Amino acid sequence: MLYLIGLGIHDERDISVKAIEALKKVNVVYAELYTSFFNGDLSVIEEWAGKEINVLGRKDLEEDIDGNVLSDPREDVALLVCGDPLIATTHADVILRAREKDVEVNVIHSSSIYSAVAETGLQIYRFGKTTTLPFPEKNYFPTSPYDVIKRNYDLGLHSLVLLDAKSEEERFMTINEGLRLLLRMEDEKKKRLIADSLFLVGVARLGGDSLIRAGTVEELLDQDFGEPPQSIVVPGELHFAEKEMLDVFRID
Ligand SMILES: C[S@@+](CC[C@H](N)C(=O)[O-])C[C@H]1O[C@@H](n2cnc3c(N)ncnc32)[C@H](O)[C@@H]1O
Repeated sequence: MLYLIGLGIHDERDISVKAIEALKKVNVVYAELYTSFFNGDLSVIEEWAGKEINVLGRKDLEEDIDGNVLSDPREDVALLVCGDPLIATTHADVILRAREKDVEVNVIHSSSIYSAVAETGLQIYRFGKTTTLPFPEKNYFPTSPYDVIKRNYDLGLHSLVLLDAKSEEERFMTINEGLRLLLRMEDEKKKRLIADSLFLVGVARLGGDSLIRAGTVEELLDQDFGEPPQSIVVPGELHFAEKEMLDVFRID
């Protein structure tokens, strides 16, 4: 049996009792922390589970899963993941690979940025497709996030914009960096979407010492959102109840 377990969106205390019960039972415990930023202390979970946690890197999981998580189909294994374990495409792949080996998968869900973003007051069912802003590299500056936001915006839907996390290099994109990338995309695309006056919401460390600020691009660029993880929300059409909720977070 493979237990795919969500750590939740902030620290070690977000893991469920059900997850701890499973961790006590399994033979081996792995964790992948590279798809987000874990604010917690894994050693506390090791103590609760009564066993060591082996942290895997991106390559271990994406290129050598048969050498770790799926190395012995007869063993009960747990894989810990930040947030909810199914909110990241990598983990659907883990399930498929387990099924190929006839390993049963048990998913233990947890809190996720996908639901926590509703703390802004924006209603979850009024969001369109989510996008992620990747760190640009030499000869690599994808502008597809801009297209996703534009499509959502034209349909009156909100966009959740996740920010790249390169945990192995300890690089986590900030809202500020994300906004600058969006302005650079605007320069290329020129569809008059990301103007200095566009109204946005910045969210940091939801589920922990949450910081939510709503304002124009210009105003948000002046804010210091502190530690990761951080995300941007581009609101579409606002229902009056959403407007009222967002007012609480407006930068004066
Ligand atoms: C690939 S997603 C992983 C999502 C995770 N599996 C979940 O269910 O929450 C990682 C990105 O989500 C965003 N994120 C995750 N937790 C967050 C939080 N507590 N507050 C704000 N943004 C968060 C950040 O942009 C981060 O880089």
